[in-house]
Amino acid sequence: MKRVLVLGGTAEATALVSQLIQQTDIEVTLSLAGRTQQPLLPPCQVQIGGFGGAAGLADYLRQKQFDLLIDATHPFAAQISLHAAVAARWCHLPRLMLVRPAWQPHHPNDHWLEVDSVAAAAAVLPRVAQRVFLTIGRQELSVFAALPDLWFLMRMIDPPPAKATLPRGEWILERGPFTVMHETALLLQHQIEAIVSKNSGGAATAAKLIAARDFGIPVVMVQRPPLPEGEQVSTVAAAVDWVSRQLGVTKQP
Ligand SMILES: NC(=O)c1ccc[n+]([C@@H]2O[C@H](COP(=O)([O-])OP(=O)(O)OC[C@H]3O[C@@H](n4cnc5c(N)ncnc54)[C@H](OP(=O)(O)O)[C@@H]3O)[C@@H](O)[C@H]2O)c1
Repeated sequence: MKRVLVLGGTAEATALVSQLIQQTDIEVTLSLAGRTQQPLLPPCQVQIGGFGGAAGLADYLRQKQFDLLIDATHPFAAQISLHAAVAARWCHLPRLMLVRPAWQPHHPNDHWLEVDSVAAAAAVLPRVAQRVFLTIGRQELSVFAALPDLWFLMRMIDPPPAKATLPRGEWILERGPFTVMHETALLLQHQIEAIVSKNSGGAATAAKLIAARDFGIPVVMVQRPPLPEGEQVSTVAAAVDWVSRQLGVTKQP
């Protein structure tokens, strides 16, 4: 029995695990940071919570005798990707990154302002709009609390912590995928003049970009942090192939 650890937190990680567990000769463990209260879990072994840095992850890999490590984490989860690279090197373990392609502006009506960080997004906003749709999750909302003259619609999966410092505005709880019709209705209902997004990529949350394009409103797009070096694929199918090649197992039809 070969053991594969998938570092997850994305729909792609869950899809990959669901495919790998069909193969009888592979034991798969999915690891999550624990950021979402009720994650959608495939039927496999799941470990939730950090390892204690690269050293803790290396210990875990050795202890559980994993054969492969797949980093299918969110493009903005830079810390865990770095730890995965270091731990895999220490343990001489093959590692693959499953990275969904970034979104690209490709229409004349895509008015994107690309910035390097959430703080940089907050810095440009007063020159861009008064009423803003924040689609960056719940972890970094406090940055926008320093902009009391702006109004924010904040979308997240779980509620913000009780003591969180939130910007002026209102928050809603929603989990994707979202349709263009849904996103258009939100923009209209709240008279949104700009969207702030991380360039997470993927189809599930791309509808807001189409809605923004249709209205001709700007999108302040936070660019991805750099990834560590190493082999990358962009699709679940390619990751399944990589596992099969690494382990020399035959894929189930
Ligand atoms: N993590 C996610 O599931 C997730 C999902 C959606 C969006 N994001 C985006 O990523 C940004 C940073 O998120 P983050 O703080 O979770 O990532 P991070 O900065 O890369 O990770 C921080 C720590 O969380 C633990 N961790 C992260 N992913 C893990 C996993 N799959 N399994 C076990 N432990 C994990 C690790 O703790 P130890 O050092 O103790 O091992 C890691 O050092 C967020 O603001 C958001 O934009 C992340």
